[in-house]
Amino acid sequence: MPEPITVVILVCNHCDLFDDEDMIEEIEIRESLPSDVASIEKLYPDAFPDEDLLPLVRELLREESIVLSLVGIVDRALVGHVIFTTCSIAGRTDKVSLLGPLAVAPAWQRRGIGSALVREGLLRLENAGAIQVYVLGDPAYYERVGFEPEAGVTPPYPLPKEWRGAWQSVSLHNAEQPPHGKLSVPQPWLQPALWAP
Ligand SMILES: CC(C)(COP(=O)(O)OP(=O)(O)OC[C@H]1O[C@@H](n2cnc3c(N)ncnc32)[C@H](O)[C@@H]1OP(=O)(O)O)[C@@H](O)C(=O)NCCC(=O)NCCS
Repeated sequence: MPEPITVVILVCNHCDLFDDEDMIEEIEIRESLPSDVASIEKLYPDAFPDEDLLPLVRELLREESIVLSLVGIVDRALVGHVIFTTCSIAGRTDKVSLLGPLAVAPAWQRRGIGSALVREGLLRLENAGAIQVYVLGDPAYYERVGFEPEAGVTPPYPLPKEWRGAWQSVSLHNAEQPPHGKLSVPQPWLQPALWAP
């Protein structure tokens, strides 16, 4: 298992969330452990009060061989979590991955923790030979970490028209032939409700 990394986040931003003093936070990013499950189960309802993602998260965490699950820790508290799931594309042997869910505790949002978790995951996947990572999410957020609209590979279920711009990917290695086809996802992701409003 790769070593945990520590990311130093400088928080100043002249925003109104903090007093006038600059703050420096250190976040440790590492793979999740079984002992993190209780904190992860608390994080999701806090971050997604209107959506129950816990069944998906629990199922994914059981799929250890195909999942990269990273947590962000500040002062020994779990403040963020992201999952990347290994997927495939029919007729291709390339390793590709699907990002999601991603959650940061409300009190810790907008301090770079979500971006740091995503960047660390992409780095680990790049080192592991993945060529492309897909995500269904807000382009205004994911473009900040390198994602662009994806047209060659389609999601497992057709998306409603208003969501099409939300299907994105980032390239980690240049494939000789860019992948084309439908993304084949493992069982936990085979729920149409996860792909529709
Ligand atoms: C979305 C989320 C993971 C981002 O994590 P974060 O640590 O707050 O994000 P970062 O600090 O890395 O980036 C913050 C920037 O992204 C923007 N941002 C945050 N959430 C955003 C969203 N849902 N859509 C668009 N932009 C968003 C903010 O505007 C912020 O930029 P600014 O401070 O310059 O205005 C976190 O806010 C969260 O858990 N939200 C609730 C759950 C959710 O909506 N998850 C979506 C991913 S599936």
